[in-house]
Amino acid sequence: MFQSKIAGIGYYVPKNVYTNTDLTRFMDTSDEWIQERTGIKERRYADRIGETTTTMGVAAAKIAIERANIKNEDVDFIIFATLSPDYYFPGCAVLLQREMGMKEIGALDIRNQCSGFIYALSIADQFVKTGMYKNVLVVGAEKHSFALDFSTRGRAVSVIFGDGAGAVVVQPTTDSSHGILSTHLHSDGAEAEKLAMYYPGASSGIWLDSMPDWPDQELGGLLMTKEMLEDGTAFPYMDGQAVFKKAVVKFPEVIHEALLKNNLTTEDIDLLVPHQANLRISQFIQKTLGLRDDQVFNNIQKYGNTTAASIPIALCEAWEAGKIKEGDLICLAAFGAGFTWGSALIRW
Ligand code: UT7
Repeated sequence: MFQSKIAGIGYYVPKNVYTNTDLTRFMDTSDEWIQERTGIKERRYADRIGETTTTMGVAAAKIAIERANIKNEDVDFIIFATLSPDYYFPGCAVLLQREMGMKEIGALDIRNQCSGFIYALSIADQFVKTGMYKNVLVVGAEKHSFALDFSTRGRAVSVIFGDGAGAVVVQPTTDSSHGILSTHLHSDGAEAEKLAMYYPGASSGIWLDSMPDWPDQELGGLLMTKEMLEDGTAFPYMDGQAVFKKAVVKFPEVIHEALLKNNLTTEDIDLLVPHQANLRISQFIQKTLGLRDDQVFNNIQKYGNTTAASIPIALCEAWEAGKIKEGDLICLAAFGAGFTWGSALIRW
């Protein structure tokens, strides 16, 4: 049995910067409200045309592959985590395979939203540990901006999210003192509709009390109608407070689980890179775990919440800034729609 390690890492964010003040052009909001409730100052939006979740994923993947010192044709498996794929199907992994001229390798899409990258990393870890693959490309990428409600009605959701991509190459190592120590994955579908985008979907025959009032169910779940755009049901729905309350419990829980599994404590963590959901959530986790400021990395201020991309973007930025050194204990943790949550401990 091998151990797996992150051999290369890269990220890409689009050039278009939208500050909080820019958003006031579309909706009734303010820089003060957004910063106070979320910590976000600005986010990036992809070009409307020509820049997609896949193209951003490719840009991040190219850097990760180069830094891993391999070539595109060396990649033997692709895992792509996103909730905003270019098409309803097929997924982004095959589009990336085509775009990067890779061999006819396996390509898997992961739909675990904010926890997508941790789920993807965990799968890569299993394949590498068993010796099945030697170079697994793991990508987390999102183009949220195409499907947000930028009117005042959608402000509680739309101000949070941004676009971007991050990627890592996972390889085997025989050095047991370095690499991914363990990953921990969880879910609880009881509150699945509290953070969801219902359309396009096949659930039109199912009626859940928790769903908001929709017009004319007979239209069918797969159809997106003008009415759905007008009344807002076409856009992502989030019960922000319910998500917040659950997140601040599950983040520390799953971090403790990872530490316990490895006989480590919070003092051993050199850097916690939490999913960038809301700066207040990160600060809450930091306080609960008793971590110092230098033990936690946040960059939500610049990019907003980029869902499956947030951890690899933050991890890469932290690494590029010299905040991650060889031998450091890095903890990744995420919580989001599903609900799903997870953690990973890495000895860098
Ligand atoms: O990564 C995926 C997982 N997602 C999360 O982790 C998100 C977790 N939740 C949150 O981050 C927070 O719940 C939000 C940032 C989404 C919202 O913050 P909140 O403190 O829970 O605000 P709220 O939704 O309770 O709204 C408070 C007030 C409301 O006005 P009234 O009813 O008190 O008059 C909202 O209409 O703030 C209003 N509001 C806004 N005002 C200005 C909501 N959004 C905005 C806005 N600008 N963008």
